Amino acid sequence: MSVTTTVTLAGGVELPRVGFGTWQLSGRRAYDAVRYALDAGYRHIDTATMYGNEQEIGRALRDSGLARDDIFLTTKLPAERAKRAGETLDASLRALDVEAVDLWLIHWPTSARELVPTWEAFIAARADGLARAIGVSNFNVTQMDRITAETGEAPALNQVPWSPFEHDAVRLMEHGERGIVVEGYSPFKRSDLRSPTLAKVAAAHGVTPAQVVLRWHLQHGIVVIPKSATPERIDENLNVFGFDLTSDEMVALDSLSR
Ligand SMILES: NC(=O)c1ccc[n+]([C@@H]2O[C@H](COP(=O)([O-])OP(=O)(O)OC[C@H]3O[C@@H](n4cnc5c(N)ncnc54)[C@H](OP(=O)(O)O)[C@@H]3O)[C@@H](O)[C@H]2O)c1
Repeated sequence: MSVTTTVTLAGGVELPRVGFGTWQLSGRRAYDAVRYALDAGYRHIDTATMYGNEQEIGRALRDSGLARDDIFLTTKLPAERAKRAGETLDASLRALDVEAVDLWLIHWPTSARELVPTWEAFIAARADGLARAIGVSNFNVTQMDRITAETGEAPALNQVPWSPFEHDAVRLMEHGERGIVVEGYSPFKRSDLRSPTLAKVAAAHGVTPAQVVLRWHLQHGIVVIPKSATPERIDENLNVFGFDLTSDEMVALDSLSR
């Protein structure tokens, strides 16, 4: 099965299917890892207000010499800043040293009362040109349906934990029916990379178990954002477009979640 390198979000924004995660990378380590990732070919960087590394990422982007338009940048609003969404986005933009982010996410659900007003603030930020696309993270379908029903605007994407060890075909389908892209986080932390099934599939393709995990996401249409501070692994994690898992292998990997 061939997989394109980008997916188009509702609203027309193109998102690279493999991004670079930056949670727990701070200071010099964040700068070095993001510089390396950009040199290696990553064009999608995932950060958050909570990660405390937006300034280092901004500097890495600047020093990379790449054009701003060539990089897809995601940041996230902590739920407890819901009432200060606008000023929090401004701080992110200042730290990242950009005029707009490509995707702004509500990092996790706010209280039920703040859910719709927060989503309205996101819609306003996009209208003001401060975020090209908007979405959510760690939301369930009921929460997404509520903000959609009350504003007429569905999130473009939901960033949630995902791996072959916790595959949920029904949940994936529910996102697809709503035109909401699933972006999987912690692909490795939520996998057993020593699993015999992964080892067998990896050996059949001459790749690593980690690459099998990422390829499995892509063949399910799930955007994935692995994090690594190790240069060889940063390269390895982007090198997942040159092999195809068979449908039998996909079924075997899906079964790891049972
Ligand atoms: N929205 C949310 O609530 C949320 C929550 C969690 C994460 N995220 C996002 O998702 C990103 C990824 O998730 P994550 O950081 O939790 O975990 P992850 O990407 O699943 O795993 C990172 C760990 O795997 C190791 N690793 C990386 N590549 C490897 C490879 N090829 N082979 C073996 N081990 C490898 C890394 O080690 P080294 O670094 O030492 O190489 C690190 O210990 C985060 O960085 C963040 O951007 C979002």
